Amino acid sequence: MLPSLLLLAAAPLAAAHTGCGGHEIARRNPGGPVIHRRQVDNTNVDPVAECAPYTYAPVNTIKAQFPAIWQAATLVQGDSEAAALFATINATVNQRLPNDLPRGTANGNMAGVNYDNADPDCWWTWKQCTTPAASTGILPDITTMPEPETWGFGFDDGPNCSHNALYNFLAENNQKATMFFIGSNVMDWPVQAIRAKDDGHQICVHTWSHQYMTSFSNEQAFAELYYTRKAIKDVIGVTPKCWRPPFGDTDNRIRLIASLLNMTTVVWSDDTDDWKVGIGNVTAQDVDNNYLKVINAQKAGAYATHGPVVLNHEINNYTMGELIKQYPAIKAAFKYIVPIATGLNISNPYEETNITFPTFAQYTGVGNTTTSSSASAGASASGSASAVSGSASASSSSSAVAKKNASGALAVSSVSAASLFLGLTAALLL
Ligand SMILES: *[C@@H]1O[C@H](CO)[C@@H](O)[C@H](O)[C@H]1NC(C)=O
Ligand SMILES: *[C@@H]1O[C@H](CO)[C@@H](O)[C@H](O)[C@H]1NC(C)=O
Ligand SMILES: *[C@@H]1O[C@H](CO)[C@@H](O)[C@H](O)[C@H]1NC(C)=O
Ligand SMILES: *[C@@H]1O[C@H](CO)[C@@H](O)[C@H](O)[C@H]1NC(C)=O
Ligand SMILES: *[C@@H]1O[C@H](CO)[C@@H](O)[C@H](O)[C@H]1NC(C)=O
Ligand SMILES: *[C@@H]1O[C@H](CO)[C@@H](O)[C@H](O)[C@H]1NC(C)=O
Ligand SMILES: *[C@@H]1O[C@H](CO)[C@@H](O)[C@H](O)[C@H]1NC(C)=O
Ligand SMILES: *[C@@H]1O[C@H](CO)[C@@H](O)[C@H](O)[C@H]1NC(C)=O
Ligand SMILES: *[C@@H]1O[C@H](CO)[C@@H](O)[C@H](O)[C@H]1NC(C)=O
Ligand SMILES: [Zn+2]
Repeated sequence: MLPSLLLLAAAPLAAAHTGCGGHEIARRNPGGPVIHRRQVDNTNVDPVAECAPYTYAPVNTIKAQFPAIWQAATLVQGDSEAAALFATINATVNQRLPNDLPRGTANGNMAGVNYDNADPDCWWTWKQCTTPAASTGILPDITTMPEPETWGFGFDDGPNCSHNALYNFLAENNQKATMFFIGSNVMDWPVQAIRAKDDGHQICVHTWSHQYMTSFSNEQAFAELYYTRKAIKDVIGVTPKCWRPPFGDTDNRIRLIASLLNMTTVVWSDDTDDWKVGIGNVTAQDVDNNYLKVINAQKAGAYATHGPVVLNHEINNYTMGELIKQYPAIKAAFKYIVPIATGLNISNPYEETNITFPTFAQYTGVGNTTTSSSASAGASASGSASAVSGSASASSSSSAVAKKNASGALAVSSVSAASLFLGLTAALLL
């Protein structure tokens, strides 16, 4: 089918972050009996060994309260608490934005989408709009850091099973970041998710199934955010107040739903395209150049009054190794490298107000008048560790099945993802 002209206009923008296609690779369906305890070993940095499937008893206990992983989320049947909250949010959205409706497909096919060029819904994928009209009362997205010469530091798409080398590196450098976690990955890799909080990183939501949010009904969009927030609360122990749309794909309707869940929308100013190596035609050299572009802009004085928010990924061993490789140059060029909450002086990034996070002054020491020791610079955010406790266990019998299921999913879904990607690319080139 021929793409519409509208797709041609939208696609170049979508291409800024077209699709962390690597997700398709690791869809899992863990389960089966818990056979023996698994010793969690953060010093293990062999990606293959780190990614051995395991069953975590506390997640098994709660998983019936969640949508199926890696599927578009909907309200879970019998979840009256979620249904009640959704009913009020739905009413507000319908009343305030009656004309902002779903468009395109969940995997980003915009063929046939008919959208007003004037961009009434501030649709990011259309023209990278990040500032809704004042009349909507919806806050602009976070795209930069208000502090000069400051790199806003975060990773999308985690937790990845093989992240120990990266997390060890960050810990050795006393460096905190913002982790935009996918709900399905939190359920798949709960022990890795818990490590992020234990290491003092900020946790934000990156949706349940990592698809195009503006394609979803109010209920699906709500469920994608709500159940990821709940997974992070139940597994890690905190309820995030921030989220990042996969592919940047948000609009006023989605922003409003997020804001009614107390979540601020965070996008980015600069994209490394790291996830595209090995999927699109982007090379490792291109990614090096993308990092260099931001570093050189800093050297040329572009960040005298603000800082970039740079997009990179916790998605595979390459993207994480690339950050480790680039870090010394970033550190040498920029004055500060900070998590998003820290750059914005948000000391309470979670609903749990007894958990604090370092402000800019506390983290950098600049103008630090803190007298309490509860949120010292570079130190872990204070607060309790995980909400659910229990042992991670490897299950040899379930592993084989999980792998078979995962490879079954791969065979089907990676084909469709690849052909979608090629379809978009072809539309662009033509
Ligand atoms: C594998 O997937 C099938 C169908 O998708 C499901 O019925 C089965 O329970 C899964 N196996 C495991 C171990 O989760
Ligand atoms: C939410 O609003 C939509 C209209 O946008 C409506 O079709 C739907 O039934 C509502 N859902 C619920 C659960 O009320
Ligand atoms: C949003 O924040 C307000 C004020 O703290 C709180 O009362 C409300 O419960 C929060 N809403 C959700 C959905 O967490
Ligand atoms: C995590 O990274 C490994 C490589 O280090 C990769 O094989 C795997 O697919 C990734 N998992 C996810 C869920 O992205
Ligand atoms: C994973 O990345 C590290 C760099 O962090 C590298 O040293 C190692 O060789 C990589 N392993 C694989 C299997 O690619
Ligand atoms: C953060 O707080 C410091 C003082 O502690 C102040 O100088 C700075 O302007 C604040 N930044 C923002 C973005 O509020
Ligand atoms: C900021 O002050 C607090 C309290 O004195 C201290 O614990 C912390 O280390 C200071 N931060 C830096 C970066 O010096
Ligand atoms: C924060 O408060 C909650 C509930 O009020 C409590 O369960 C939790 O232990 C507290 N955490 C800390 C770090 O004080
Ligand atoms: C890679 O593909 C994009 C379109 O998706 C195109 O704009 C770009 O020129 C291509 N780059 C190379 C090096 O072929
Ligand atoms: Zn993503």
